[in-house]
Amino acid sequence: MHSIRIIGAGSIGNHLANAARAFGWHVTLTDNDPAALDRARNSIYPQRYGKWDDEIVLKDSRAAITDPADVVFIGTPPDTHIAIANAVLDAVTPKAIIIEKPLAGPDLAGCAALHARVKKAGIFGGVGYNHTLGRNTVAAEAMVKSGKLGPISTISARTREHWGGIFKAHPWLAGPAASYLGFSSRGGGATGEHSHGINIWQHFANLIGAGRVTEVTATLEMSNDGGTLYDSLCFATLKTENGLTGDVIQDVVTAPPEKSCRIQGRDGFVDWRVGYRPGHDAVLEGTGEQTHETLIAKTRADDFKAEIAHLQDVLSGKADHSPIALERGLDTMMVIAAIFKSHETARRVSIDWSKGYSPDALL
Ligand SMILES: NC(=O)c1ccc[n+]([C@@H]2O[C@H](COP(=O)([O-])OP(=O)(O)OC[C@H]3O[C@@H](n4cnc5c(N)ncnc54)[C@H](O)[C@@H]3O)[C@@H](O)[C@H]2O)c1
Repeated sequence: MHSIRIIGAGSIGNHLANAARAFGWHVTLTDNDPAALDRARNSIYPQRYGKWDDEIVLKDSRAAITDPADVVFIGTPPDTHIAIANAVLDAVTPKAIIIEKPLAGPDLAGCAALHARVKKAGIFGGVGYNHTLGRNTVAAEAMVKSGKLGPISTISARTREHWGGIFKAHPWLAGPAASYLGFSSRGGGATGEHSHGINIWQHFANLIGAGRVTEVTATLEMSNDGGTLYDSLCFATLKTENGLTGDVIQDVVTAPPEKSCRIQGRDGFVDWRVGYRPGHDAVLEGTGEQTHETLIAKTRADDFKAEIAHLQDVLSGKADHSPIALERGLDTMMVIAAIFKSHETARRVSIDWSKGYSPDALL
């Protein structure tokens, strides 16, 4: 049986705890705030999953820092991720360390050093872009790989979702100013919080062999209500090293939400959808006049079960590659950083990957 130590007993920490328990894992859920541990046990977990699971060990995160575990999962706010990951690696060497998205703030502070450290330790590093593991993604990949679409003309991704849903899942937060969400510099705002859009775009670009993103042009809409400073809208055009051009839109204002990624080829398209119908993701496929819809039943808990199932494959050596590998999360961080630089300088930003995961790579 595998063990997981989860740091951060908030919304995501509870999801991961529940998913790991569904696979029989030994779970320690930790936080540096005793109120968060109480909330996990008495409200978040029982409200979501019916009742508290007595097998889950609750512990202060500082007291648990030297506790061994196969997997350490960091589900705290983005501006704490890198420091916590370094503190974990100072204390123990787990088999895998998984950090929630976005990995860091758009200044990329600590990204390159953490990557070097994880590589040197020879452990699996991951970032929680778990949409890449969904059944809709697997189905869309098969369709793209079938070759029926012909040469791919463009990819277009949307993660447009009013963040009222996030605040509903966090009733203890007064609003955007009360957390990282209201601050782009801390990994909040549309570009950081909804970076699943950038990541899924890169996922399908990798799949078709388009290579990494080398040019980014972006416009953001910034908001500063009530002491916040965040991007509410993000429009980005991306170009890869092999010449694929496409776009990503992410926002925190669209209701009902739209989460999609269209891979458009000369002879047809595949449209990847999240929450296409209540309780269902979908993949739409079209060639010629015909469009075919595949509905995929899914609960929110399933997103995290797919992640734990993948981690089991990683730990057992069955996974020959990982769409949630640290490098893929860092690739997304570089595009996030380039988006902010493009907006701030009002020009196209190039990414020179030979310079590593650092601001020096943004030209
Ligand atoms: N992959 C996904 O689909 C998904 C979904 C939701 C959130 N997330 C990500 O998960 C992360 C956390 O989001 P959330 O909604 O769970 O936040 P949250 O506010 O619900 O929970 C964060 C918890 O971390 C704790 N914490 C903060 N600093 C800490 C520290 N230094 N040590 C220990 N605990 C600390 C807080 O007390 C809090 O309980 C964010 O990066 C977010 O983007 C990912």
